[in-house]
Amino acid sequence: MANLINDISKILVSEDELREINQRLGAQITNDYAGKNLLVVGILKGSLYFMADLTRYIDLPLKLDFLAVSSYGGETRSSGVVKIIKDIDIPLEGYDVLLIEDILDSGRTLSYVTEMLRTRHANSISVCTLLDKPERRVVDLTPDYVGCDVPDEFVVGYGLDYDQKYRNLPYIGALKREIYENA
Ligand code: IMP
Ligand code: MG
Repeated sequence: MANLINDISKILVSEDELREINQRLGAQITNDYAGKNLLVVGILKGSLYFMADLTRYIDLPLKLDFLAVSSYGGETRSSGVVKIIKDIDIPLEGYDVLLIEDILDSGRTLSYVTEMLRTRHANSISVCTLLDKPERRVVDLTPDYVGCDVPDEFVVGYGLDYDQKYRNLPYIGALKREIYENA
């Protein structure tokens, strides 16, 4: 049985760096949302670990919910076609919604999701992404909170997958090209 690390060419964001990101963003969000009605919505499944760790650094009363959208499947590039697989349970009216995403690439997924949610009368809708690949942006979308930028490589771990695998890697790594080019 091969270990996960054998398929990683480089560690891009270590466990220590992830903790620092979560502490920094958590403090910022705590400050920005004081007195507001915070609803944190994780986009499944990629935001799973980030959401779990980040929200423990938000020192405010908040609610959690989830949204699931169609994923890449075995591909490494977004098709631009987004499908809602599981909607948010809580009606958004009166809430300050903070969407939690694993990575912002072309921006198509988040722009579709934020547009869809705009009709639901939330007080506000903001976007927090762990990773950003700004040079790959196709649609105009600027996140409110960013953990860090990553180069244009396919990355996995800490929630991010390739073909539904590698999510449980405890850090962010670049996937070896031969893994997805020969698939
Ligand atoms: P976008 O719609 O092109 O911005 O793609 C965003 C979605 O694609 C994210 O929610 C991820 O699930 C996925 N994605 C984009 N780049 C990567 C990557 O490097 N590794 C893993 N998933 C990625
Ligand atoms: Mg994904």
